[in-house]
This record gives sequence, structure tokens and C-alpha cells, in this order.
Amino acid sequence: MDTGVIAVANQKGGVGKTTVAMNMAAGLIRRRGSCIVIDSDPQGSATLWTELSGDPSRFPVEVVLAEDKLNKQIARLQTEFDYIVIDCPPEIKSGSIMNVMSISQILLVPLLPSPMDLWASTRIEELIKRAKKKNPKILAYILLNQIEPRSAMSRGMDEALQEIDIPVLRNRLGRRASYRTSALEGCSVYDLGYRGRAASEEIDGVIDEVLGL
Ligand SMILES: Nc1ncnc2c1ncn2[C@@H]1O[C@H](COP(=O)(O)OP(=O)(O)OP(=O)(O)O)[C@@H](O)[C@H]1O
Ligand SMILES: [Mg+2]
Repeated sequence: MDTGVIAVANQKGGVGKTTVAMNMAAGLIRRRGSCIVIDSDPQGSATLWTELSGDPSRFPVEVVLAEDKLNKQIARLQTEFDYIVIDCPPEIKSGSIMNVMSISQILLVPLLPSPMDLWASTRIEELIKRAKKKNPKILAYILLNQIEPRSAMSRGMDEALQEIDIPVLRNRLGRRASYRTSALEGCSVYDLGYRGRAASEEIDGVIDEVLGL
């Protein structure tokens, strides 16, 4: 099988790109095969995440910095890993993001249930249009993050998103302390025992929906 290259991107900051990338990588390793994360964000959050962990037996996700010649780096990593997850910076202007799009099979765009994030979604359409121009075969999905079932805004998202011409994953991530704890402890929601159970089921759902059962 070809290595699955999954990019997690959104030009908006703080929507959960790094949280999704790191927890998906952990889930892929548990359930699908080997996986490595490429940190293409100069903020280096994914790199810091693994540094916090310091215990590969608890959190086996390896993170490498993106190299200038990303295509070559990916080609090299593809010989070693079944999956590559790319954590992108919060911008789309730079050529490096389009570079990422041209070599990814799947693009996940986390989106928060907030008016500001919805208003920015026209720019997500632009991101995806540009990605598809570079790479017509890329499969792009919106992943709703920090959903609160009891909030009207979260419920209203479905209606609002019908206006946008991008598929939205049926599986979504709730607003849960365990996602924050996973970053604080430098691990994944899978490593938090019962505290992370609901979140890890959500990540499993996303993996299965995106990659097929
Ligand atoms: N589902 C969730 N429930 C609760 N907190 C969350 C959830 N997803 C992300 N967070 C928290 O939201 C904050 C932003 O998440 P994260 O750093 O993953 O976003 P980002 O898109 O990578 O940000 P940046 O654009 O700066 O790279 C973090 O504190 C993270 O722990
Ligand atoms: Mg980030």
C-alpha cells in the first residue's frame, strides 16, 4: 500500500491542527501501522509535544522538522512509514503549504464552532481550491473540533456548513479537557486511560471515516 500522507491545515490559528495531528498519529500507530509526524510549523508545537513526553514507550509518536526539500523528505520517509501526518502552520500564503498540498492524499481542516471561524471558512474554500489545483486527487474534509452538544452554535454549524462546498466529516471532536491534558502531558488521549476514552473513540472514528474501515 502507498504511504498515506495526511495534512492537517487551516490558515486560522488555534483551531486544533496540532492536537488533531498528534492524536491521529497516535491512533494510527495503535490501529493501522507505523506513522511519523512532520512538523512544518515554525512555532514547533508538535516538536515541543514530543519533547514534553520524553517517554517513547508511553507516547511512541516521532516528530521530525520539515526540511526545505519536503518532497525528498517525504519520499525518504515513505520507505519507512505507513503513514505521514503533516502539522501545518496557521497560514496558506507560503509556498511550503502548497508544497504540502501537492504531496498529500488527504487534507483535514479542523474548524471551530464559532462565528469568526465560520466567517473565515471562505478562506478554507480558497485553501482547498488551491490544493486541488496543485493536486486534483487530494481528498479534503472539514473536521469539526471543540463541539459542545448543548451549545446552539455547535448545533447551528451543520446548517451553516451546508453553504460551503466542502465535505464535513460525520465524526467530530468534542470540547474535552482530555485533549488539553494530552498536550500538557506530552502524550495522546489514548494514554490517559478512562480520562481519554471518549476522546480516543472520537479519534478512532475520524481515522475510520477518513481511511475506511
Ligand atoms: N477538542 C478539543 N477540546 C478541548 N481543547 C482543545 C481541543 N482541540 C484543541 N484544544 C486546545 O485548543 C488549543 C489550540 O489547539 P492547537 O494548538 O492544537 O491548535 P492549532 O490549530 O495547532 O494552533 P496554531 O494555529 O497556533 O498552530 C490548545 O490549547 C488545545 O489543547
Ligand atoms: Mg499548531
